[in-house]
Amino acid sequence: MKVATTIAEVRREVSAWRQEGLSVGLVPTMGYLHEGHASLVDAAVAACDRVVASDFVNPTQFAPGEDLESYPRDFDHDCAVLEEHGCDLVFYPSVDEMYPDGGGKTDTYVEILNDMPKQLCGKTRPTHFRGVCTVVSKLFNIVLPDKAFFGQKDAQQLAVIRKMARDLSYGIEIVGCPIVREDDGLAKSSRNTYLNAEERKAALVLSQAVKLGQSLVADGERDTRKVVDAMTQLIKREPLARIDYVDAVDAITMDPVDAIDGDVLFAMAVYIGTTRLIDNFLAEA
Ligand code: PAJ
Repeated sequence: MKVATTIAEVRREVSAWRQEGLSVGLVPTMGYLHEGHASLVDAAVAACDRVVASDFVNPTQFAPGEDLESYPRDFDHDCAVLEEHGCDLVFYPSVDEMYPDGGGKTDTYVEILNDMPKQLCGKTRPTHFRGVCTVVSKLFNIVLPDKAFFGQKDAQQLAVIRKMARDLSYGIEIVGCPIVREDDGLAKSSRNTYLNAEERKAALVLSQAVKLGQSLVADGERDTRKVVDAMTQLIKREPLARIDYVDAVDAITMDPVDAIDGDVLFAMAVYIGTTRLIDNFLAEA
C-alpha cells in the first residue's frame, strides 16, 4: 500500500490506474480505524479494481468547543488495517494541504441549503454537514473515483452526500454500507474510546433502543411517535445517558414523518457522560 500526503501524488497515482482502464473506489475516513471502516474498504475492494482511503481529521466539520483536538489518531494502526484489507493507496494530507489558506480555514464551502442538514444532528451541529460536504467534495475532486463508500452508521451524512453528489452531477456512485457493531450491540465508533468502563456499559442503551424500535415496527406499529416515545423512555432509564435527539424522518429527505408509509429513518444522538454517540435503524414501509 502506498501513502500519499499530497494532492499531486494522489492525482498521479490515480491517473496511472485510469490509463490502465482500472476502476477506482474511495473510502473517506477520519482515521482511528475499526471494523466499521474496514467493512467499507472490503466493500470497495470487492467492487473496484483499486481502492483509495483518505485519513484526515477534517477541521471544518468540527464547531469550536467540539473534539477536534482530542479526536483520537493512530496513523500506524490505520495503515496496518488498510493494508490488511487490501487498500491500495492511503491519502494522509496535512490540514494545510487540504485547506491552502492555512489554519483549516476556507472561504469556499459546499452546502446544502434546504432543511436536510438542519434536522437530527444538524440541530446541535449547525455547521457540521457544510464541513462534511466541503471536504468530501474536495476528496471527490482529488480522487475522481467511480464509487465512494459510506457507512449507514452516519445515516444523515450518507443522505446528505447522496444529495450533494446528485445536485453537483458528480457521476460518482454513492454506496451505503451496513452498521458494524460490537458483539454486545454497540455500534463501532472511533469515539467509543472516550468511554470509561461504566459508560461503556451505559452506552448499550443506544443499541437497546434500536432493537426495541425495530421490534415495535416488526410487530406492526406504524405511528413513528409511539416508536420514538418507547425508545426515549428506554434511554431515559439509564442515568448516565442524556438525549440529544431521538427522531423519525424520511430516509431520503430527512423531513420529520408521523407514519411509516415510506422508508423511515429512526435516528438518535445520546450523550453518555460527555461522549456523544449516534445510532439508527431503517424501517421500510
Ligand atoms: P469517520 O467517522 O471516520 O467515518 C468514516 C466512514 O466510516 C463513514 O462513512 C462512517 O459512516 C463509516 N463508519 C463509521 N463507523 C461505522 C460502523 N460502525 N459501521 C459502518 N460504517 C461505519 O464520517 C466521517 O469519518 C467523516 O465525516 C468523513 C465522511 C470522512 C468526512 O470527513
